[in-house]
Amino acid sequence: MNQNTELISASLNALSAQEGLRWISNQYPDSVRFSSALGLEDQVITHMIGSEKLDIRIFTLDTGRLFQESYDLLDLTQRKYQTTIYTYFPNTASVEKLVTEKGPNSFYDSVDNRKECCHIRKVEPLKRALHGAAIWVTGVRAEQSANRNSMKLVEWDDQHQVIKYNPLLLWTEKEILEFVDSNKIPVNVLHKKGYPSIGCAPCTRAIVAGEDFRAGRWWWESSNKECGLHEQGSKNKK
Ligand code: ADX
Ligand code: SF4
Repeated sequence: MNQNTELISASLNALSAQEGLRWISNQYPDSVRFSSALGLEDQVITHMIGSEKLDIRIFTLDTGRLFQESYDLLDLTQRKYQTTIYTYFPNTASVEKLVTEKGPNSFYDSVDNRKECCHIRKVEPLKRALHGAAIWVTGVRAEQSANRNSMKLVEWDDQHQVIKYNPLLLWTEKEILEFVDSNKIPVNVLHKKGYPSIGCAPCTRAIVAGEDFRAGRWWWESSNKECGLHEQGSKNKK
C-alpha cells in the first residue's frame, strides 16, 4: 500500500458510500472511474453517482457474450440517469484469433482456456479503461467470496497501478436489496429468475435454493471463480 492510499483510506473509512463517492469525485476531478457490470451493487453505485451527477466516469466491459437482459438494463440505466456509460470492447484481432483457433466455447475445456477468454474479453479492456485513472471504484462486496472477504475498502491495486475503492465492501445483501427497493433502482430482470450474480451468458446459470450466491458463475469449475479483475484480494490481507 503506498502512502497516498493510506491517506485516502483514512478519509474514506470514516464516510458512508455516498459521502465517499462525493469526496473522491471532488478530490480527484476527472480521474475517478467506476467499472459497472450492471449487477445489483453496480446499480446502487450508479444511482449514487447519477442522482448527484458526480464527476465519476462510469464504464462497462462488453465482452460480446452478455445476456440480452444485460444490454436492456444498460440501455435503461443510461436513459434513467441521463448519463453516458462508456463501453469497452475486447481487441478485435485477439477475439478473432481465439475463436478461430479454439472455437466459440473454449472456456468449457479447461480453467486455462477460460482464463484466456476472460483475459482477452475483460482484463485487457479493463487496462485500457483504467488508463490514466487515479481511483478505480468497484462494486465488490466481502460477502461474495473468500477472496473478496480479504479485500479492503481502499487498497492499492498493483496489477493495475491504481487505488481501488470498494464503497459497498461491507454492505450485506439485505442492505443492497433494501437500497434498491427504496430508491426504485432499475435492475436486471434475470435476478428474479434465479440469477443473483450475472456475468457472460455462456458462463452463468441460475442457482437453486441453498446454493451459494456465486454458484452459477463458471459452475463447471472448482477454481476460485475470479476472472482476473479482482485476483488480488488474498494478497492484500495484512
Ligand atoms: S466477476 O469478476 O466475477 O465477473 P462480478 O460480476 O462479481 O465480477 O462484479 C464485481 C465487480 O467487478 C463489479 O462491481 C464491477 O466493478 C467489476 N466488473 C465485473 N465485470 C465487469 C464488467 N463486465 N464490466 C465492468 N465492470 C465489471
Ligand atoms: Fe469468456 Fe466466459 Fe470469461 Fe465471459 S465469463 S470472458 S465468455 S470465459
